[in-house]
Amino acid sequence: PSLEKEFLPMYFGWFLSKRSSEILRKAGQAFLDELGSLKAFKKESKYFLSATEDPKIKIDLTSYFVKRPPGVLHCTTKYTEFGKAAGAEEYAQQEVVKASYGKGFTLSISALFITTKTVGARIELSEQQLLLWPGDADKILPTDTLPRGSRAHITLGCANGVEAVQTGLDLLEFVKLEKVGNKGEQVGEIGGGKLLYFDNGMWMLVLSKKIDVRAIFSGYYG
Ligand code: 2AM
Repeated sequence: PSLEKEFLPMYFGWFLSKRSSEILRKAGQAFLDELGSLKAFKKESKYFLSATEDPKIKIDLTSYFVKRPPGVLHCTTKYTEFGKAAGAEEYAQQEVVKASYGKGFTLSISALFITTKTVGARIELSEQQLLLWPGDADKILPTDTLPRGSRAHITLGCANGVEAVQTGLDLLEFVKLEKVGNKGEQVGEIGGGKLLYFDNGMWMLVLSKKIDVRAIFSGYYG
């Protein structure tokens, strides 16, 4: 029988198990709670306040990042936009993509980060996992040259009016700073690891013990 042309998903990615999603959500929550009550954060809280807000008020980061992904968490590999995105067909037709579809993976979370727009988890992809990473994802500007997989992340939340696509761009901003030798100011150790401040409301918690999450590589059709 003649088959219809393959229908591509909105995006390909790794979809965390329910249990791993809960573990990561909890870690993100603990990070926001602890960061929000930290003196060093309060001193720099102006980035998270509107012009009319009193800088002395306590910022509840959980309600600041009001848009949280419902259901299980995921790491987008290729945003294919149902086939409309540049490189969508090429990505979907790769042998490694077809062979990995529906397979289980363990992703390693190395850090948690926030900016004034997003909160996310940074992923360190293995060599094998990098085979599923598209060649064009690690750029903000077309001229950017950053290591493959630099953008790999899981969105944990977005501020009001911010779309999830921003989380990966925010992570790339951190990586660009790291690339020019800005390692951030080490603020101290908090629960879970080493807290770094990169100015402009950009905070990163480098986990002393990486969080491994279980995930299935698949497609999301909306
Ligand atoms: P995220 O991967 O940072 O969470 C549906 O919108 C999913 O696709 C979200 O998870 C979102 O961001 C991701 N997404 C949306 N637009 C995108 C784009 N242009 N490039 C890459 N990922 C995108």
